[in-house]
Amino acid sequence: MPARAELSPFGLLVTPAAGEDVSDLAPALLARWVGQHRLVVLRGFRAVSPDCLADCARAFGPLLRWEFGEVYDITGVDPVLFHWDGPFVEQTPSYLLFHCPAAPSAGWAMTFCDTTRLLASLSRAELRRWASVTVTYLGGYGDCVCTAPLVDIHPITGRRILRFQEPHDPGSFTIPLLLEFAGSPDAAALVADIRDRLYDPRFGITHRWQDGDFVLVDNHAVLHRRDALGAATPPPLHRVHIL
Ligand SMILES: [Fe+2]
Repeated sequence: MPARAELSPFGLLVTPAAGEDVSDLAPALLARWVGQHRLVVLRGFRAVSPDCLADCARAFGPLLRWEFGEVYDITGVDPVLFHWDGPFVEQTPSYLLFHCPAAPSAGWAMTFCDTTRLLASLSRAELRRWASVTVTYLGGYGDCVCTAPLVDIHPITGRRILRFQEPHDPGSFTIPLLLEFAGSPDAAALVADIRDRLYDPRFGITHRWQDGDFVLVDNHAVLHRRDALGAATPPPLHRVHIL
C-alpha cells in the first residue's frame, strides 16, 4: 500500500511501497483520493512512456482524443495564465493527468487553485453577485468563442466551482484571449478581485516538478497556470485529458 500525506492548503502526496508501479494503483482508489483532495501527486514511481501514460489514464476513464492524439507534450515555452482545460470541447475533461519523466534542471512549476476554497471565502452578497455573471471567451489556444457562467456546479460533486480563464493581453501574449462579461456592471473591478483571489496562497498550491512525478487534477474544481520555460528538448511534461 502506498504512503499518503496531505499537502497544504490542499492535495495529497502519494509515494509507492517497494516495487509498486503507478499502474498498480487501483482506479477506484485514485478516484476517491482526487474526489477528496482535488489534486493527487504521485511521487517516486517509475517514469513511463507516453503510450503507457495513456494506458494508465484509460484505466481511470475514457480519454479525450485531440487531433494530435491522446497525449500532449507540454514544452512550456510561453507562460500560461489560470484556466481550466477544454472550455471549447463538447465535454469538459473531468481530470487532467500530467507526467514529468525528467524535470528541467533549472526547475519548473505549475500552480493550482482550488476554486471551492476560493468561493467559500466570498460573502453571501459577493457570491450572489458572482453567480449572476456570465463570461464569453474569445480567442485563446483554440481560437474559438465559448460562454460559461462564472460560478458553475461541479458535475460530479454538486459543489460550486469557479469557471474562469484569465484574459491574455494582446500586447503581451502571442495568442490573445478576450473576455466579455454579462451581469457585471464593473468588469474591470471584478477581474481584479478574481485575480487577487486566484493568486491568494490560501487557495493555491505550487507544484515544483521532480523527475517521474505524476499529478492527477480535478479539472472542474481546480484552475491551473504555469510559468514560462525556455525551449526544452525533450518535452518535460506529458498530459492526458480524462473524460
Ligand atoms: Fe491547461
